[in-house]
Amino acid sequence: MCGIVGIIGHEFKVAELIEGLKKLEYRGYDSAGIAATNGSQLIVTKSVGRVDSLKNVIEEEKVVKSGIAHTRWATHGAPNDTNAHPHTDCSGKIAVVHNGIIENYQELKTELIKRGHKFKSETDTEVISHLIEENFKGNLFQAVLDTLKILKGAFAIAVIHSDIPNVMVGARKGSPLVVGCNDKYCVLASDVTPIIKYTRDVIFLEDGDVVYIEGNKIKITDFSGNTLIRKHTHITWDESAAEKGGFKHFMLKEIHEIPEAIESALVGRIDSNYTPSLHELDEFNLERVKRILLVACGTSYHAGLVFKYFAEKYLDVDVLIDVASEFRYRPIKITEDTITIAISQSGETADTLESVRAVKKAGGKVIAISNVVGSTITRESDVTLYMNAGPEIGVAASKTYVNQLVLLYLLGLYIIKKRDLWNQEYSEIVKQIVESPKTLKGIISNKEIEDVADNYKNYHHFMYIGRGINTATALEGALKLKEISYINAVGYPAGELKHGPIALLDPKFPVFAFAPKDSLYEKMRSNIEETRARNARIVAVATQGDEEIKKIAHDVIYVPEAHEDLYPLIFAPVIQLFAYYIADKRGYDPDKPRNLAKSVTVE
Ligand code: F6R
Repeated sequence: MCGIVGIIGHEFKVAELIEGLKKLEYRGYDSAGIAATNGSQLIVTKSVGRVDSLKNVIEEEKVVKSGIAHTRWATHGAPNDTNAHPHTDCSGKIAVVHNGIIENYQELKTELIKRGHKFKSETDTEVISHLIEENFKGNLFQAVLDTLKILKGAFAIAVIHSDIPNVMVGARKGSPLVVGCNDKYCVLASDVTPIIKYTRDVIFLEDGDVVYIEGNKIKITDFSGNTLIRKHTHITWDESAAEKGGFKHFMLKEIHEIPEAIESALVGRIDSNYTPSLHELDEFNLERVKRILLVACGTSYHAGLVFKYFAEKYLDVDVLIDVASEFRYRPIKITEDTITIAISQSGETADTLESVRAVKKAGGKVIAISNVVGSTITRESDVTLYMNAGPEIGVAASKTYVNQLVLLYLLGLYIIKKRDLWNQEYSEIVKQIVESPKTLKGIISNKEIEDVADNYKNYHHFMYIGRGINTATALEGALKLKEISYINAVGYPAGELKHGPIALLDPKFPVFAFAPKDSLYEKMRSNIEETRARNARIVAVATQGDEEIKKIAHDVIYVPEAHEDLYPLIFAPVIQLFAYYIADKRGYDPDKPRNLAKSVTVE
């Protein structure tokens, strides 16, 4: 989820590109850079940190004919000046900015190095500039088309060549790209915010589109060069709405980004026969692991809990999970067959970091799961599985929780594969994970979630219940609701009700029950009956086609049928949207819940 902006047409000052980057700042990033040309040479300036740092080292008054700029959210290679975009070829004439991940970059890089190309960065992006260099025979558009045929993965790119300053080429497969032109300039960008200043009539490119821009004229084609007609959209949003893609809040936008985030998490991690391949972990003898220690806080802890249920069901392992603030002060037993998994979206959570340090001190090995390349936890762990969800601005975790789940499922499945335990059921689980972006897209667009939230916005208490693997969903649902709507919400394994919590229930204390058609369905139904007998109102989340549930629940939100262990993934957007709508309807800002910070760097 990096940011791209390219400007071309009449001459303009480099300051315009800086202004474009400023419009992308809200997305979060670790470095920024610009490549621009006036036709004689390519000027490339990059800087780690804020756009203001770039501003300090760039000649803003310089007049150019075309330029591309980028804010980077690292995926391959640490955030530093060298890895910042744009990336150039050996001749120093071609510059590329890129969002997304090139899945086959390693093979491509090895081949390019053999053919004599010199690489400067550790990024996957740099292969694109060198490939375009090889394919360039005077026609940049054709060189890009020839390069696109070789690239695997998800990407949006913008390319310029200093010998032809009136031409810019962009392409999209999996990452957004928008173009808009006025009578002087064309602007190509990863979202509409930098374009609005120039025009409000834009074209949202579709996957598989290439845009050829000459001056202020554009042509859109497919990857084979066949011309396509794309409709214009008139943007009526103000700038702040545009930052949020037209959504009212970042949290809502980020929930809608879930399908795209999952696709990024899966890039390069699934083999053609629906088995996981986590090459990062090849050096760990995971087939021999008997004990897994899981450490995390908050939402990340709940993702870990899902893993515990999953791994213990299919593998002969003991999974011990603890919240990091407890774990770090307890004795740690590390044996030869122990591995620790530290889950932290930010990679900076103080308690999780200290737990990693304690494990390392005790001689243990740590696999981190994080969304932030180069964060402290990733640096201090032995290896990191990156979530690739892109920056998350809403304080409450949404798309990053989903990507944690996806990676943890893949990790469990990878260990199963390593132990030669693979069978058809596992391929089916992987297949459903691969299809989950589509499934979740359908759930996210279910308007009923908002309607149900409207029925419950005025309650002061809520109890979330689930069984088995959805005990974690109940805890996460309650956390999401309480942190953004300030409703007192508690989560319990449903079987625990009669050991105390049921005493709370009355008509003013509703219950949110997870009741998928799984092996614990009948037990869950009995628990719902118990709560109904206390006159509590009940929202059930159930599997499509379950008509019986309507007889005992007051409101039902249906989701498509899934493998029973994947319901936490399927339910994730439901609990997030429910909490979001209640918070919004109560007049709170879900992006900035009181007393909370996105990164908890203190104990
Ligand atoms: C809740 C939430 C927090 C974080 C927790 C850990 O929505 O976001 O509970 O999950 O503070 O943060 P990370 O994953 O950054 O270690």
